[in-house]
Amino acid sequence: MNLGWKPKYGRFDVLPLVISVAGADPVVFDIPPDLVMEPIAEKLGLDTMSNSSLWKDRALVEINVAVLHSFQTAAWLTHVWEKDRGMEKKKQIPFKILSHHLWSKTLAQRVMCTILFASETGRSESFADNLYDMCKPYFNAKVVCMKDYMVSDLCNESLLLVVTSTFGNGDPPVNGQTFDKGLKEMIKNSATLIENGYSVFALGSKAYPHFAEFGKTVDKSLSDLGATRVHKVGEGDELHGQEHSFDTWAGAVVEAACKSYNIVPDKESKNKKETSRKAVQAWTPDTYRLLPQPQTPNPDLCTGQ
Ligand SMILES: Cc1cc2nc3c(=O)[nH]c(=O)nc-3n(C[C@H](O)[C@H](O)[C@H](O)COP(=O)(O)O)c2cc1C
Repeated sequence: MNLGWKPKYGRFDVLPLVISVAGADPVVFDIPPDLVMEPIAEKLGLDTMSNSSLWKDRALVEINVAVLHSFQTAAWLTHVWEKDRGMEKKKQIPFKILSHHLWSKTLAQRVMCTILFASETGRSESFADNLYDMCKPYFNAKVVCMKDYMVSDLCNESLLLVVTSTFGNGDPPVNGQTFDKGLKEMIKNSATLIENGYSVFALGSKAYPHFAEFGKTVDKSLSDLGATRVHKVGEGDELHGQEHSFDTWAGAVVEAACKSYNIVPDKESKNKKETSRKAVQAWTPDTYRLLPQPQTPNPDLCTGQ
């Protein structure tokens, strides 16, 4: 009732469905009356064609009797289904349709958010998955690898978040090469303008001369094509707190995006520290490099100095 639902029939009523998806504000859905009253009246053999048969009143009395009975016997706790009885197919369909309809309605009300990644050794992909977890309470989000993405779809995006590394000599990872080419073509033709909101997180290592170059290029290209930066490009240096930089950028991006699309982030998720980070890809010799460290004298075992 705090959400604005008003009982229609008194103390015993058909409660609405209240759906809250992954911490988002709950949404109230009234159960359509024809899904409740008419099937019951039909089962009771009442004439639903005419109100003068008082079929609604009689059906309501039966519902009240059933509710009282269920409270007395706690039937939902003790009921054991007959073994092979199963449910008749036609009884399952209305609920499936209803739940599908309600779920689609909830998702359809949300802004679409595509999280695009390109990765050589799995870090960007893992970050993209984390970003998805942060976005899904507020957006209709999906994660897509650049190699499976058509650049022409950029025109259909609402919110585009890009997480990508740089490889070789400031180049895209292999699974980002087609996207890179497509984006360059698009700019060359300068025919299409895209209007979505976007932000980019660029991974790299300052051990290389062209630090996080590809991510920065994607950021500039999207801006040149007309997209609106909802938050400035984030940079994650492999040698210096890359995960921390990502967390900071991701938190700020979700907040900025919610603001841009008039979504109110719920306080609980906002205050919650992102502790559920998924483990970044396992160690393999070809994905890590050993770097020489400055020589330090062995510490004294007693003093630790
Ligand atoms: C062979 C190799 C080449 C790299 N080239 C660059 C580069 O040109 N610029 C840069 O900023 N980082 C470069 N890096 C660092 C990667 O971008 C960095 O390790 C990043 O975190 C990898 O992310 P990913 O797992 O998503 O591919 C290179 C790394 C390797 C192993």
